[in-house]
Amino acid sequence: MIDLSGSTPFAEGGNRKCFIHPAQSDKCLKVVHPGLLEEIIKNKPWYKKFRSKDSFDDNLREQEAYKQKALMVDNPEIWKHLAQWYGMVETNIGMASETELIKNNDQIAETLESYLFSNGLTNEIKIAINQFHQWLRDNLILTKNLIPHNLVIKSEKDEMIIKIIDGLGSQAFVPLPNHSTFFAKRYVERRIELMWSRINWDLSGRKGNWK
Ligand SMILES: Nc1ncnc2c1ncn2[C@@H]1O[C@H](COP(=O)(O)OP(=O)(O)OP(=O)(O)O)[C@@H](O)[C@H]1O
Ligand SMILES: [Mg+2]
Repeated sequence: MIDLSGSTPFAEGGNRKCFIHPAQSDKCLKVVHPGLLEEIIKNKPWYKKFRSKDSFDDNLREQEAYKQKALMVDNPEIWKHLAQWYGMVETNIGMASETELIKNNDQIAETLESYLFSNGLTNEIKIAINQFHQWLRDNLILTKNLIPHNLVIKSEKDEMIIKIIDGLGSQAFVPLPNHSTFFAKRYVERRIELMWSRINWDLSGRKGNWK
């Protein structure tokens, strides 16, 4: 079991605390906030309370998402814009997902959100975003809505590479896009369109509804 009692999270989202793996500094361990799942279930309407606790667990949902059809191929291209998944491991504060920690030299990579707030929509980042979108289209990778705080920027040579660190999976209630190329294409185009809406909303002071 991994002991995280001496570790401080390097970041936290609404669902999980993120730690640098104490023995492998290129890996990230994410643990769902203690008590969060119980809290979520308590606040759900009665008809959703029948869903199991596991179905609200972001680590388990992500584990399923990494099993999607598009990632079951032997092609290194599919990892170009996606943090590697290493599995689930036990820690003293609960089960953790173990993934690639995206870094630039020794610094943990900046999120796209933070980059956009500091620099705006520069030419370089537009190129990186378009490249990322092309990869989504070419490989038909299924994601939930692509929000800038769930994407980080890795610098490679002279390029900026956008990497998904959270939000892999499908928004669709019926998993059609995972079975049909036709639905997957439509689904991916919609995620791309919504990613631009979200970026423009972030950059224009978050007024109204971003969708
Ligand atoms: N693999 C990673 N490499 C680098 N930074 C990461 C990585 N995973 C997470 N982070 C950082 O930690 C933050 C929170 O992580 P993450 O988005 O996985 O948490 P979450 O609780 O699931 O988020 P949400 O609030 O979107 O549900 C990210 O916004 C990012 O800044
Ligand atoms: Mg997140």
